[in-house]
Amino acid sequence: MARKADEPLVLGIETSCDETGVGIVRGHTLLADAVASSVDEHARFGGVVPEVASRAHLEAMVPTIQRALKEAGVSAKDLDGIAVTAGPGLAGALLVGVSAAKAYAYALGKPLYGVNHLASHICVDQLEHGALPEPTMALLVSGGHSSLLLAPDITSDVRPLGSTIDDAAGEAFDKIARVLNLGFPGGPVIDRYAREGDPDAIRFPRGLTGPRDPLYDFSFSGLKTAVARWIEAKRAAGEHVPVADVAASFQEAVVDVLTRKAVRACKDHGVDHLMIGGGVAANTRLRAMAERRCEDAGITLRVPRPKLCTDNGAMVAALGAEMVARGRAASSWDLSADSSLPVTETHVPGEEHAHDHDHDHAHSHDHDHVHELSKQNLYDA
Ligand code: KG4
Ligand code: ZN
Repeated sequence: MARKADEPLVLGIETSCDETGVGIVRGHTLLADAVASSVDEHARFGGVVPEVASRAHLEAMVPTIQRALKEAGVSAKDLDGIAVTAGPGLAGALLVGVSAAKAYAYALGKPLYGVNHLASHICVDQLEHGALPEPTMALLVSGGHSSLLLAPDITSDVRPLGSTIDDAAGEAFDKIARVLNLGFPGGPVIDRYAREGDPDAIRFPRGLTGPRDPLYDFSFSGLKTAVARWIEAKRAAGEHVPVADVAASFQEAVVDVLTRKAVRACKDHGVDHLMIGGGVAANTRLRAMAERRCEDAGITLRVPRPKLCTDNGAMVAALGAEMVARGRAASSWDLSADSSLPVTETHVPGEEHAHDHDHDHAHSHDHDHVHELSKQNLYDA
């Protein structure tokens, strides 16, 4: 095993949605995970308002970075790199993180790594369960995404097998919670109600599970409509709506499809490890059902603790550290946020390095050059 001091010390910044996350890791060891959330500011709108999120990131950025450095007990000058979510996500929100990461990296003379948000959600599990097996199958379920990804190498090779054709799993939770007047975000509160309810009370539809349906794609909009209609019918008839039973039955339909398809993907691809990440991975029923189905299929399940499943900076730092460890090329200073960065682009290497995988990462020409430039600026000033 590598000595701890040899492992890269990386700070990661995440601002793709409503969480300003700054994490610091050394290799696979989590040193700090500071998160400032603007979720309360969005609650009254029933969803994330991009402009509100961007402004909250701007206000939270510097204090959150300072908090993370303090928590980790490290000095910014000791960092081996600064990683940031380059996409996918809300354009304005991403831009705040990318700008901050550039400013810090430039001022400190450190390499900058623009990384993919989805790959980060997978890589974070290294902080909990150690090195990811290669390949890993990943089920990513959040408010913005639901995908099945095959990852032979988290730093350079992530292949999408399927994804949602309409709503994301978390979005479905949020919408049903709104219909039930349970507030936002919906996932945690539905999870709580469902514990008191009967998952078999109402048989809601399982989207895209017919014999001719795509094997690894998901659809939750039909389910959402079915649940909303069921509730409306009860209300129209002046009957009581059994919230716990509706929550449990809805959750069961989502979790049933997610786990069934994930296990199927593992079997079809001969992969014996399943990783589940993203905000919905915090769901207790999803964890329990995945545990049982994986065990039955001889698959090892890896789910990080809930705090690492929802958006955070540690996951970005984890992927950044892996980029450094594997000598992946740093990003260039014209790195920009890409709200629809494809999952296949695990990171955004600088132009001249786009195809080279040499191991001279920490001293890429780009950064030596910038180092010189920043010195020059100092002398000029
Ligand atoms: O990964 P995340 O923090 O942000 C995105 O990238 O979207 O995921 C947030 C989503 C929300 O839709 C929220 O309702 C859902 O994750 N979520 C849950 C649970 N906790 C959060 N869904 C189901 N059960 C939960 N316990
Ligand atoms: Zn996310």
